Amino acid sequence: MESVFNLENFDIKLDTEIIGRNIIYIDETPSTNSFLLDPAISGNTNGTILIAEKQIKGRGRKDRQWYSTKGLNLTFSILLTNKKYFTKRFNLINFATALSTAIAIENLFQSRTELKWPNDVLINKKKVAGVLIESTSKGEKIERVVIGIGINVNQTSFQGSFNVQPTSLKNETGGTVIRETLLAELLNVFEETLEQVISNYKWILKEWKQRCGMIGERISVSDGEKTKNGIFDDIDENGFMILKNKDKVEKIYFGDVSIV
Ligand code: BTN
Repeated sequence: MESVFNLENFDIKLDTEIIGRNIIYIDETPSTNSFLLDPAISGNTNGTILIAEKQIKGRGRKDRQWYSTKGLNLTFSILLTNKKYFTKRFNLINFATALSTAIAIENLFQSRTELKWPNDVLINKKKVAGVLIESTSKGEKIERVVIGIGINVNQTSFQGSFNVQPTSLKNETGGTVIRETLLAELLNVFEETLEQVISNYKWILKEWKQRCGMIGERISVSDGEKTKNGIFDDIDENGFMILKNKDKVEKIYFGDVSIV
């Protein structure tokens, strides 16, 4: 059943210093990412989060749409404006985000999660959450980063054709999930994990790889135009995929991966 997000219940569980301390909650918006990318409408406070019950044009990776039924799931974005995060390991924020989502789910539901390169969260091989990070820059310098997260929480049926079959936490854990508790746990984990991007990025790589079921497998990766096959050998220090095919070693920066 559709519910209204209770900010008080969320706030009681939130244990962060910065992330989620400034919170905007709205009924409908085209996309929470677009909202936070615009300083004129969302301000510049580092760590601001925006939760929307419904996105009219929710975006996924590779120009896909992100569909989510109103009031059942979590569709939200986090704004980063503190330049300390915009280091050469910037791409690892993607991995830190997916990893935090997985850890929060594990902590609350004792479920096994799997991470699919680059940043999908799966349970029982089905997708429960996705991450879309966008940024604005002035010249070479990144100005603001918006981390968009969509989690299928209490929606039980999904229409359409999908690259990876979607599921929800309710479907996989068998009960209605309290969204406020999940979001607070996720942000609590995320604030700590984000610091590791700066101070201990190897920890993120290690934890991410432990949950990635495809490393070592023969895969195909498609960027929409070209498909490449090979062994998913590893990820490098920035999270890019190392694909091996006979004697050739290639780096893959983006794409959709499937086991062949
Ligand atoms: C993907 O798996 O393709 C990424 C999905 C990201 C969806 C979230 S929902 C909140 C935020 N706002 C958007 O428009 N997209 C992200």
